[in-house]
Amino acid sequence: MELQELLYCQGFGTRRVCVGLVQKGLVRLPIDGVWQTCQDPWREIDVAPDKPFEVQGMSWIYRARAHLMLHKPAGTECSRKPSAWPSIYSLLPAPLRQRPQKSAVDGVQAVGRLDQDTTGLLLLSDDGQFIHRMASPRHHVPKRYQVHTVDALTPYQTDQLMAGVVLDDDPLPVRAAACETLGSHHLALTLTEGKYHQVKRMLAAVGNRVARLHRSAIGGLQLPSDLLPGQWRWLSACDLLQVGYST
Ligand code: URA
Repeated sequence: MELQELLYCQGFGTRRVCVGLVQKGLVRLPIDGVWQTCQDPWREIDVAPDKPFEVQGMSWIYRARAHLMLHKPAGTECSRKPSAWPSIYSLLPAPLRQRPQKSAVDGVQAVGRLDQDTTGLLLLSDDGQFIHRMASPRHHVPKRYQVHTVDALTPYQTDQLMAGVVLDDDPLPVRAAACETLGSHHLALTLTEGKYHQVKRMLAAVGNRVARLHRSAIGGLQLPSDLLPGQWRWLSACDLLQVGYST
């Protein structure tokens, strides 16, 4: 692949910008085992996950498709055009926001949304198949939430969450796939659907309220304890398998 094409497909800007970055001497890569500045935008490059390159000092690795996880902090919106809070997209480096796409929207996009005040595991990708699979209600990918409630939980409430509750806009009851009481005001709730404000509405339907909400896992993928709020990380092949996806 030509160097300018490599930069373009990884989101470093328009083709003209990418040619300029190379010609200005802002791109370095290992050539014959030695890190060097390459000023030829049309030089053929061997792309591989074990062949990093640097653009303006930022180290990058080629990936045909981007799959990543973000530890969403509280006080951020999952929208590109947020109304009141900073966008989660502002937490990502520019190449992830600029990866060229066939669709109208450039860059990676969040797989589903978390509320402004919800924290935890959020997946993002530019792989349409992956996004569809993770978000599709047909695939029932379980999502585990840590729910802290305003009022003490009663066995009746947790039984109701498992048995099914009716939400205002939906005639069919929604039920938790699992519900584990972890404290007087704390439960772990697993859902396989992703309706709007589902956890908060389910808790309201049983007469309680959510004080704090955190998504701790999607499928078998746990939010790593060393991924701090606001940080992101590439998903490994093993992570993808944990959410039932293989490339
Ligand atoms: N359910 C909610 O109520 N809010 C979220 O952010 C996610 C699930």
